[in-house]
Amino acid sequence: MNTITDILATMDYGKAPEDSAIVRDWLKTHEGGFGHFIDGAFTAPGETFEVFSPASNELLARVTQGTEADVDTAVKAARKAQPAWAALPGHERAKYLYAIARHVQQHARFLAVLESLDNGKPIRESRDADVPLVARHFYHHAGWAELLEDELPGTAPHGVCGQIIPWNFPLLMMAWKIAPALAAGNTVVLKPAEYTPLTALAFAEIAAEVGLPKGVINIVTGDGQTGAAIVAHKGLDKIAFTGSTEVGRRIRRETAGTGKSLTLELGGKSPFVVFADADLDAAVEGVVDAIWFNAGQVCCAGARVLVAESVARRFEELLEQRMRQLRVGDPLDKNTDMGAIVHPVQLERIKGLVDKGVAEGAELVQGTAPEGCFFPPTIAMKVEPASTLATEEIFGPVATVTTFRTPEDAVALANNTKYGLAASIWSENVNLCLDIAAQVKAGVVWINCTNVFDAGAGFGGYRESGFGREGGREGMMAYLTHPKPKAKKPEAAPSAPVGQPGEALPGAGARIDRTAKFYVGGKQARPDSGYSYPVQGGSGPVGLAGLGNRKDIRNAVEAAHKAKGWGKATGHNRAQVLYYVAENLSARAGEFAERLTSFGASKGSAQAEVDTAIRRTFWYAAQADKFDGAVHQTKSAHVTLAMHEPLGVMGIACPTAQPLLGFVSLVLPAIAMGNAVVALPSQTHPLAATDLYQVFDTSDLPGGVVNIVAGERDVLAKTLAEHDDVAGIWYFGTRDGGRMIEEASAGNLKQSWVEDGAARDWLSKDGQGRGFLHRATQIKNIWVPYGE
Ligand code: NAI
Repeated sequence: MNTITDILATMDYGKAPEDSAIVRDWLKTHEGGFGHFIDGAFTAPGETFEVFSPASNELLARVTQGTEADVDTAVKAARKAQPAWAALPGHERAKYLYAIARHVQQHARFLAVLESLDNGKPIRESRDADVPLVARHFYHHAGWAELLEDELPGTAPHGVCGQIIPWNFPLLMMAWKIAPALAAGNTVVLKPAEYTPLTALAFAEIAAEVGLPKGVINIVTGDGQTGAAIVAHKGLDKIAFTGSTEVGRRIRRETAGTGKSLTLELGGKSPFVVFADADLDAAVEGVVDAIWFNAGQVCCAGARVLVAESVARRFEELLEQRMRQLRVGDPLDKNTDMGAIVHPVQLERIKGLVDKGVAEGAELVQGTAPEGCFFPPTIAMKVEPASTLATEEIFGPVATVTTFRTPEDAVALANNTKYGLAASIWSENVNLCLDIAAQVKAGVVWINCTNVFDAGAGFGGYRESGFGREGGREGMMAYLTHPKPKAKKPEAAPSAPVGQPGEALPGAGARIDRTAKFYVGGKQARPDSGYSYPVQGGSGPVGLAGLGNRKDIRNAVEAAHKAKGWGKATGHNRAQVLYYVAENLSARAGEFAERLTSFGASKGSAQAEVDTAIRRTFWYAAQADKFDGAVHQTKSAHVTLAMHEPLGVMGIACPTAQPLLGFVSLVLPAIAMGNAVVALPSQTHPLAATDLYQVFDTSDLPGGVVNIVAGERDVLAKTLAEHDDVAGIWYFGTRDGGRMIEEASAGNLKQSWVEDGAARDWLSKDGQGRGFLHRATQIKNIWVPYGE
């Protein structure tokens, strides 16, 4: 028997298993297999697959593989239920969400045990992190249902949402998806991951228990094929997906042109940056939470530890010491720090990546793990920044450790990834922390903390980590839409411009005053092709515009990149420049109106277009320093700063009609928020926009902030959509063009906003507003410890 001294020396104390009898009893009552939960009731089981506990390999349940027909039945049930659900006063919807939260709390132990059995995560995590957060999510969103009309006026639910979730936080991801969707008045068809469907099914029983109207929540189980059937279903208005970047990219392509709204929460390879003045003991505990929490199967895991060279040795010693104390084993044991890997397939994936890393020269320091579906906590040293272990998402308990010398090095290493989900920064110097927080490309930044989540703050990524946010006000926006303007007649594809060599238009005579060049990097630029195309007016050609090609777009993107300092300028500075633009535009109002009349516009409508463009420019100038973020009221002791940041370089394809106002209405909000833009003016009447270069030139707008390339819109827009250095694209054109843009933007998963170019009357209030600013920004949530 161990003496107390032995125990203290080894910390090897006995087991403290959580009782799983109630869960096993429940599983027994479903021995015949689970069906789906559709229209308020469970269907009879169909063709089933087996669900195992990864820690013990014991069979837990048989679950139905959802077919296309099952998905269709679920979507129909959700559709039928949606109008009545949305029509309920927010207060009534709130009552249901409150009731769900209460029932989750009542069943907390049951849900925690079931989650640990199914997923393999330690009971300490499911009990103390996952389930309490699930309840918090429903409480918080009950509040949003209550306040919707006051806080988010003018919005409407999407309708029916298809939601696909992963296996790493099965119940929590479900809550993140369902709570805001229901609060907003949507109904849902949700598919849990095939490895971990059980807590979603238990939750369905809870929904029935609270008397949620039937059809509001529908749970269809199955694998990726079932997921694909949801994505493909024509009866859905929105798809929300959390999972791998690879599947996210496929979903982006498959939903292209369908009009379905899409949010993607994808992978990451988040940096964990330790500066020399950090509290090293706290930072070591941070790494434990960052990469060994849930065995590293966390999309925002701090998988790349970057540590200041001067403290690296000490830090590595402390980290190794701490890692060796971690107890890996039975998830139901209350002493277990790290449980099982979710599935043997995932274990093999982790092993494969680690073996590859070792072959590339990485050196491993590892703790211990039992036989079976377990992987030891691992630190990988001597990892080159471009190697497999430093770049690929491992989704396992493997941290790489790399050293840096200066804060600039740290930022460069931190951003050396295609992802941008999260980052964690450790230093006792708050100035340094905030300075670095501003520079890292990540949707969530934790200062002196890590893996902190709350329903009140948005979570989601930059770059290939996806788009959209979950949690907080910004997360609600992902489940709401502003009524979309509809085109009376959809925009027709303009006929392809016929290029002609040189700048002369034979036989055009005096009507041709000049050839509009492009505007790139603050200078006029000739088209690479050497071709121009005639621009038709009311009666014959009125000018020539350069005919752009891929090379022109690439040059313009490069110029826009060089102008990224604009995004760092203060809102005040940007406002001053935009006021100047507005004033200079006013001074030349007559000229612009004349130009528009030469295209065939009546005097009155040309004047109205110019006047509105001027007022709109003033409006966005005023907004440049007023589109504020927020400080979220998170449950923990943090100030959580939700900052608006520009996307970076944006591509904007303008509609055909109202060529001046369409351009101003789209380009101005983008640059007001600090983006640099490559704009494609109206294909048929580009001169109204190309003339603007004279206004920009005289208004102190730094070169490269606005770049203008004319030509065949869809050809140029495709190049922009495919360009990896373009972070967002707006396309206002034809339906086919829109589909092409959404498809092409899947490469680097850039944010896209696609609309029928004829849908908005740019003279009306549809052409202006905070919605444009919202689309031109992404939100970074920075968590700063505060008040405790
Ligand atoms: P996955 O992306 O394949 O699975 C996530 C969900 O998507 C599951 O519900 C799955 O059934 C569904 N799905 C799969 N194929 C689909 C399709 N074509 N259409 C619609 N839905 C589909 O992730 P998987 O294979 O389980 O894990 C692979 C890797 O992905 C992991 O090693 C990890 O690196 C990453 N991953 C990232 C997650 C995150 O939260 N960012 C979560 C899960 C995995």
